[in-house]
Amino acid sequence: MTPAMTEKPADAQVAKPKSPNPLRQGLIEEKTGDACAIVIFGASGDLTRRKLMPALYNLAVSRSLPGGFAVVGVARREKDHETFRAEMKEAVIQFSRRKPIDPSVWSDFERRISYVAGSFDDPKTYADLKRHLEALDKEHGTAESRLYYLAVPPSEHGTVVGGLREASLVQPHSASKGGGPFTRVVFEKPFGHDLASAQKLNETIATVFDESQVFRIDHYLGKETVQNLLVFRFANSLWEPVWNREHIDHVQITVAEEIGVEGRGKFYEETGITRDIVENHVMQLLCLTAMEPPTSLSADAVRGEKVKVLRALRPMERRTVQENVIRGQYGRGFVRADEVPAYREEPDVAPDSRVETFVAMRVFVDSWRWGGVPFYVRAGKRLSRRVTEIAIQFKKVPHSLFRAPDGGITPNILAMRIQPDEGIALRFISKEPGQQTILREVAMDFRYGAAFGSNTPEAYERLLLDAMRGEATLFTRRDEVEGQWEFIDHVFDAWASEGTVPPPIYPAGTWGPEQSDDLLARDRRRWRKP
Ligand code: BG6
Repeated sequence: MTPAMTEKPADAQVAKPKSPNPLRQGLIEEKTGDACAIVIFGASGDLTRRKLMPALYNLAVSRSLPGGFAVVGVARREKDHETFRAEMKEAVIQFSRRKPIDPSVWSDFERRISYVAGSFDDPKTYADLKRHLEALDKEHGTAESRLYYLAVPPSEHGTVVGGLREASLVQPHSASKGGGPFTRVVFEKPFGHDLASAQKLNETIATVFDESQVFRIDHYLGKETVQNLLVFRFANSLWEPVWNREHIDHVQITVAEEIGVEGRGKFYEETGITRDIVENHVMQLLCLTAMEPPTSLSADAVRGEKVKVLRALRPMERRTVQENVIRGQYGRGFVRADEVPAYREEPDVAPDSRVETFVAMRVFVDSWRWGGVPFYVRAGKRLSRRVTEIAIQFKKVPHSLFRAPDGGITPNILAMRIQPDEGIALRFISKEPGQQTILREVAMDFRYGAAFGSNTPEAYERLLLDAMRGEATLFTRRDEVEGQWEFIDHVFDAWASEGTVPPPIYPAGTWGPEQSDDLLARDRRRWRKP
């Protein structure tokens, strides 16, 4: 794969000469955000510490932040600017991908960090924020532009949107035309709890913001390997002719984690893995795999194609959910030789909880391209190993000329490894050297680390930068998020109608309940061991 690919030829510039990696020659110049103040609601939360502040610091290191820039944390707890800065420094030291932190970059970045205390349902919070932002416009040149980041639970999304509106902290979209000040808003996932709540939230948002001002995050879309799916499919002529039901037997999408719920028992009790990971990350991977080529890379063209996939998903009916969806919950077990507790033993989890921490589904995209091709998807916590991948399994050869082991010649598999060990492998059959014709499966393996070096930006860096630039391609559109929920709602309806059946327990450190293997075995297939 050539590293000289650009997503927009017009943007293409020669790489910085100081770039140490020759393979980066020809990559597009780093982008810079538009002048603005970023306001993070939920500034005392984990996301701010682990992801947002380290991402902003890394954008400062790569000189991608605009000259006019400030970041304001908003949360309930009283604290002064200095305390907040010290907390953020700790967080960046701990979680930044670049270590150690650069003192000169940090001291400039730190001057731009400040804090406003207040409750999200108190009009005073917004009045204080407004005064503070006006002062920042003068001090840091933030040009009256605002990027509000709602790192708060979905139940508080509407409250913050209302507070912003009442305090006149939102400029209409028209104000930004011709380079005027902009207001944009980023919603952290989960976006709603089901279709009805997502629709209601969308309606509330639409009374305050134009859709072009709204950025719904799915951080998977910011991952390099996920962005590469479009490049891989549509910048190479090899795949399109075989990317269909004629050649593809089935598709497997796996999002497996070793971690458990990590202190988020309360959240998981309300969410479960279907809402936490399948409704968003898995659906996005499925859409990017199944979508038709968009006419351009514009936000509307790409998202329009993804919405068509969502509309083509065969809806699950109560009867078919039982056949096509398997859930599970982790019990005690061993992950990497460490004994780990059962889900029901985690803090804030009910001892008889029925929440699923594993789900596997057989899904069909009823379209001309995919008619009859099953997409098997699974996501689970406390599985054997952390791996996210999309595996395309091609059809078997129609007739075998060679003596092959039982089951015939294994089919070609194209495995796109999203993480870790990012890369793409094509497995095919080869002759083992020797006097006899012995067949052996081998792989052509592309590895990001070897080809491009390993210091790739984190998803949140790309997404924050895009939001600062008003580029919405990697964010979820209103109809997209509603399409995702519509599909998932059917599954929940069926589970609700089943009444009180608890999900099967699988030992931590395995690949989920055995029913998940049966799901594929019924179709004479099996899960890949990634
Ligand atoms: C988040 C989920 O969206 O994604 C977490 O809430 C999950 O439960 C995480 O662990 C996985 O993200 P990543 O980037 O580590 O694969």
